[in-house]
Amino acid sequence: MLSEKVKTLLNEQINKELYSAYLYLEFSNYYQEEGLEGFANWYYVQAQEERDHAMLMLKYLQNNSCHITLEAIEKPDKVMKSLKDPLVFGLEHEQYVTSLIHNIYDAAHEDKDYRTMQFLDWFVKEQGEEEKNSEDMIRKYELFGTDPRSLYLLDSELKSRTYQAPSLTLD
Ligand code: FEO
Repeated sequence: MLSEKVKTLLNEQINKELYSAYLYLEFSNYYQEEGLEGFANWYYVQAQEERDHAMLMLKYLQNNSCHITLEAIEKPDKVMKSLKDPLVFGLEHEQYVTSLIHNIYDAAHEDKDYRTMQFLDWFVKEQGEEEKNSEDMIRKYELFGTDPRSLYLLDSELKSRTYQAPSLTLD
């Protein structure tokens, strides 16, 4: 049995992950309009991963016979004034999501809810990877983003990112 608090936090996290997908689609649209198809692709794939995170939360709640309430998804409100802005906003957002996952983990730990803790282990690791990816994007942009030729090559590299289904699966 999941406690009300853990259930509520996981239910809210579905919404947060779908918002993340929305935010990254916004970034993807921004780069598309700026003519950087590789950056646009990178965030389009990222949005797909965020949708997967939401679906994993949803499936976990379903598997534990929990009622799920789907709330409205907030509109992304970031104002992007430079090509670097989405990268910085992305890192800040991932750090925020990490804090949310840790918060759910704390609640599960308090309840001795080992099943939820084990489920969340995958997300804890995933957040580490997502923060690193976001930091790498900023570093690459700082190194290569100001020279048009280097930016073209970086954008070409980012075109090669393809969607991979999550390594965590729930029956
Ligand atoms: Fe679902 Fe990027 O965290």
